[in-house]
Amino acid sequence: MGRRLKFDMPGPDWRRELGDFRETPREAFFGTPSGCLLVVEVGFGRGEFLVQQAQAHPDHVFLGIEVSWKRCLKLARRLARTEIANVRLLADPAEEVLGDGLREGEVETFWVNFPDPWPKARHARRRFVRPDTIARVARCLRPAGLLHAATDDPDYATQIHEVLAGEASLKNVHATAWVDEVPGRMPTAYELEWRAEGRRMHYFSYRRREASA
Ligand SMILES: C[S@@+](CC[C@H](N)C(=O)[O-])C[C@H]1O[C@@H](n2cnc3c(N)ncnc32)[C@H](O)[C@@H]1O
Repeated sequence: MGRRLKFDMPGPDWRRELGDFRETPREAFFGTPSGCLLVVEVGFGRGEFLVQQAQAHPDHVFLGIEVSWKRCLKLARRLARTEIANVRLLADPAEEVLGDGLREGEVETFWVNFPDPWPKARHARRRFVRPDTIARVARCLRPAGLLHAATDDPDYATQIHEVLAGEASLKNVHATAWVDEVPGRMPTAYELEWRAEGRRMHYFSYRRREASA
């Protein structure tokens, strides 16, 4: 593919700047009436999960956050060829978007599907699921809003469990620390590959308590 073609946008470009997201009223940012439920996916990768969710819930608005601008460009090009108009993309670290982009109590659902596991001990502090980021995720959730996370990495699964269970404003939806199947859940491309390799999955769902504990 030629360089120009690769960067050409074959339709509307749904990528946005973080500054724009910070400053623009949400109705104007998403081009929808106020009150639309906001769903956020952190690290959407190839974006197939985000596309499926956006198609399944046309009355919701979706914010995809992906640190890789190439992945963001690829998904933007894919979206531009569709009728989907309820998705906006940010090519930024999710920690920055959580820091001063997303507002308290405005998110209905967060999806954190297979965040990078950073398996080496010296890199573990780079993991997305840490007490500080999850405290911020919890603050951005509406009361009774949901946080879903998934990993195939057993060590990261233990960390995710400890961090989520340790956040007082969140309550586990499941009776166990995690579940290894979620009926009806669309698998991501990575998930399909890892399942084919026989890896075990760990799915977490937490709900924000109505009143902060
Ligand atoms: C293992 S992949 C999983 C992708 C996708 N969620 C899936 O399940 O197929 C992790 C993704 O998170 C992105 N990522 C890593 N750190 C991030 C961060 N701090 N903020 C946003 N995205 C991040 C990576 O670029 C990568 O696309």
